[in-house]
Amino acid sequence: MDSFLIRGGTRLKGKIEISGSKNSSLPIVAACLLADGPTRLHGVPRLSDIDSMNKLVGELGCHVFRNEPAASGHDGPPLNGPLDIEVRDEKVSHARYDIVKTMRASICVLGPLIAKRGRAQVAIPGGCAIGDRPVDLHIRGLMKLGAEFRTEGGDIVGEVPKGRRLKGCNLYLGGAQGPTVLGTINVMCAAVLAEGNTVLVGAACEPEVVDCANLLKKMGAKITGEGTPEIKIEGVDKLIGCEHRVIPDRIELGTFIIAAALTNGELELKHCNLDHLVAVVDRLEEVGVKIVRENGTVFVSSSRRLNPVEMTTQPYPGFPTDLQAQLMALLCLGDGMSVITERIFQDRFLHVGELNRMGAKIRKEGPTAIIQGVRELQGANVMASDLRASAALVLAGMVARGTTKIDRVYHIDRGYEKIEQKLRAVGADIERIEEK
Ligand code: EPZ
Repeated sequence: MDSFLIRGGTRLKGKIEISGSKNSSLPIVAACLLADGPTRLHGVPRLSDIDSMNKLVGELGCHVFRNEPAASGHDGPPLNGPLDIEVRDEKVSHARYDIVKTMRASICVLGPLIAKRGRAQVAIPGGCAIGDRPVDLHIRGLMKLGAEFRTEGGDIVGEVPKGRRLKGCNLYLGGAQGPTVLGTINVMCAAVLAEGNTVLVGAACEPEVVDCANLLKKMGAKITGEGTPEIKIEGVDKLIGCEHRVIPDRIELGTFIIAAALTNGELELKHCNLDHLVAVVDRLEEVGVKIVRENGTVFVSSSRRLNPVEMTTQPYPGFPTDLQAQLMALLCLGDGMSVITERIFQDRFLHVGELNRMGAKIRKEGPTAIIQGVRELQGANVMASDLRASAALVLAGMVARGTTKIDRVYHIDRGYEKIEQKLRAVGADIERIEEK
């Protein structure tokens, strides 16, 4: 398993190109199962999670081809070539455990398979480092549309009764922790081919939901209200392959904005959409980070003094849980006491122990972490645990005194494209150690 070796103390300065969104690409690749004919996707990042999803839809009868990148024509690394996906064979509708166990987002094939093929068998995704990951809301929504479910040897089996078609209806999708992003997308992907109209109440409003709805509308779906808690869908008989560019990755953008703030650097972040991070900009400006937008580019700089703040993670448009660990890394150096409350996942504080090993002073009180700012962090050997906690350790390592070794960086490779190349290109002293 590879590790990162990071020597702290360098200010980041320069340009970074933001990749396409992982959390938009994953459900969009799954949604291609709904279409007749080829779909061409632009901006899909090269990540291990994307490879897993491509492998999964390949096993489900799709031809998946990654084209070579065109000449970059700019100073950054070459853009990834478009991803072509076409359904060739609809016989198999079983998403096998050994893929699903590595990537929970495999659950995204459930809605498309049930809607298009009338049957889906998907291994029940287990828990993960950030807590249980139930799919009860996905199943409840699909059942309201007429699918019938049973469990079989650790798999969820969903079927549309013989000779019947999914039937649109008004349904509520919210759960105890608020809306579900992938649950909203799964039910939306099923309702677009259902008979009649569906109103999805309590829908997630994340930009990734809107991006998937835009793909489906290009395929011929009739959807309104995406991005609001009420999505209206008029079922159609058929969807046709299309061409689509996925939105920029707002979590990668937020991670690099915080990297600039932490190292007191100056970064120019290209091909991004700051409208997707209004709550994050609100908190970071309170910390004292200077963020200026010019068209699709964001300029970030910060003064030495970082103000302490309070933050609670919430569903969109609130502060995203996927940037909670990264903000915590920043607040470790705040001038005073900060408070972070995690409202989306019950155990998303695995980074606390590792940051404390680097000299941070963080105390957990249930869903809340109290961060007493310190003057500096010290490099240490630390362990990556989940994707975003690992990103927080990279950030901390870049500002700590001395050297930090982060083991199990495969967690990072799931969600950040070429992260060490991008950071090295703006001055970070980071290298990957490949464990033979
Ligand atoms: C998506 O996961 C993202 N993943 C997550 O990003 C992100 O943290 C999460 O949304 C919240 O924004 C992808 O898009 C691939 P949820 P998702 O369903 O859809 C509970 C990352 O780091 N819930 O919105 O699986 C659930 O336990 C990843 O990139 C149910 O109770 O999350 C949680 O408490 C991590 N029943 C809350 O809802 C259900 O059926 C929100 O989860 C579904 C969810």
